[in-house]
Amino acid sequence: DAPQTVSPTGQATGAERAAMAQGGSFLTTAQGNRLHDTNHSLKAGPRGPVLLQDHHLREKITHFDHERIPERVVHARGAAAHGVFRAYGTAAKIAKAAFLAADVETPVFVRFSTVLGSRGSADTVRDTRGFATKFYTTEGTFDLVGNNIPVFFIQDAIKFPDVIHAGKPHPDREIPQAQSAHDTFWDFVTLHTEATHHTLWNMSDRGIPRSFRMMEGFGVHTFRLVNAEGGTTLVKFHWKPRLGVHSLVWEEAQITNGMDPDFHRRDLADAIEAGAFPQWELAVQTFPDNPEQTFEGIDLLDPTNIVPEELAPVQPIGLLTLNANPTNFFAETEQVAFHPGHLVPGIDVTDDPLLAGRLFSYLDTQITRLAGPNFAQIPVNRTHAPVNDMLRDGFHQDAVHTGVAPYRPNSLDGGCPFLAGADTGAYIEVPVELPAAKKVREAPASFDDHFSQPRRFWLSMSPVEREHIIGAYTFELNKCYEQAIKERALQVLANIDPELCEGVAAGLGLPAPEADRPLASVDPSPALSQIGRSWPLE
Ligand code: HEM
Repeated sequence: DAPQTVSPTGQATGAERAAMAQGGSFLTTAQGNRLHDTNHSLKAGPRGPVLLQDHHLREKITHFDHERIPERVVHARGAAAHGVFRAYGTAAKIAKAAFLAADVETPVFVRFSTVLGSRGSADTVRDTRGFATKFYTTEGTFDLVGNNIPVFFIQDAIKFPDVIHAGKPHPDREIPQAQSAHDTFWDFVTLHTEATHHTLWNMSDRGIPRSFRMMEGFGVHTFRLVNAEGGTTLVKFHWKPRLGVHSLVWEEAQITNGMDPDFHRRDLADAIEAGAFPQWELAVQTFPDNPEQTFEGIDLLDPTNIVPEELAPVQPIGLLTLNANPTNFFAETEQVAFHPGHLVPGIDVTDDPLLAGRLFSYLDTQITRLAGPNFAQIPVNRTHAPVNDMLRDGFHQDAVHTGVAPYRPNSLDGGCPFLAGADTGAYIEVPVELPAAKKVREAPASFDDHFSQPRRFWLSMSPVEREHIIGAYTFELNKCYEQAIKERALQVLANIDPELCEGVAAGLGLPAPEADRPLASVDPSPALSQIGRSWPLE
């Protein structure tokens, strides 16, 4: 195991605490050599040239020169907090995960983020928000890496670089979409109409939350839970904020961006410091694990779909309370590494092709961002379960491994016989039957309907919410230079609803096209999110 100069919770012990708090009696070099002056370089006479032998000068400046690490390729701007998750026990019959048993308390670290802005961008932009939770369970770490919008732009991770390239600042001038031309974003989402649903949520008030404390969170993908008997249930995860869901209006958001670009991170830190601890209920929608992996005709592997709460109630399974601010932004908020593949026994993934790409992407990017493969040893990333792995060496290796034979089985090191096939509390993937298949690059026909769910969302909106959506599309599309992109966007809107299309067309000063396909016939959903309602888990 790593020498524990820092405890698994990130708390320094003994002399390290004084040094980290900069509270020791003496200033030292990194080697612990006491210094008597840190304000003057070593020189040949007071006006003389600086001497190369000044190790303190070189150490101090060299370290400063390397203080920055790459920001995240997406979700670069974030704010985080520590907390605790207490399970109600209601999920115990569908998931054997120890942290879901009644009254078990699990430490957590939660990072909220915007997606497209850089580390120094403003908080109250119109964007999706990340809602990533690290559960430090006794069976290893479980990460629920979600967003505040329940659907995603694309159905296949192979398009992820494309949608992000389209949304990030323009390559020539590095001016963010939100402030200049919008052509690439709108070009992408109107050519890839699977993005229609997510875009509509972004153009609604959900795109400009009032506070991280007042956002819902969603796991987006369908996951598979496994109980102690091996029975499986498909689920979608939801976070329901105790404070309800609230948004800014666009004018407030814009003024706030200018007046206080740190509005959301300040709000989170201030609330926690004041003892007004934000809370969310974790909840699941449950679906039978049928071979088709559909529910009421909705393809559960398509991440551009929700399952309306009227069809599958959202059932609470535990309570999250954020009760402590990070001690050091860089050490914790910046270095935390989430991964949708950090799973514990009882929670498995499904074949959602977007999720498959994510399972590859996060570890890969973190090896660059956190300089090598050993970032699991950074305090905020350390599991609270015992570690006995066979990973060795590499940049930033803090562990001093003992033993000579990091492979199993071996006949040299004692202990840890690898009991192939034995369930010793190990993570075992559900042995899902796969249909006979041929290798193809194509999506199923069930991924083709890009307009029914956007129409349902639109029809579920109140008059003022519709007004805000029309205003948002009009504002954003007015920033496009290309007339053809605006016209294509109006065609997409016509396929959702004529009122929406006509409202935006009027704002753009363009004719409103007719729908070029029959409008989806859907029941208007009274509300997609029903804060405060709860259903017992049957
Ligand atoms: C980061 C959510 C899709 C690649 C993040 C973060 C969240 C998130 C919350 C921020 C993590 C943090 O706070 O540190 C989601 C959701 C998705 C999605 C909900 C879809 C449902 C994807 C896809 C890919 C991807 C399809 C790639 C194929 C990344 C990468 C990062 C990231 C590379 C940066 C990670 C890091 O540097 O630590 N995502 N994401 N995401 N996501 Fe996703």
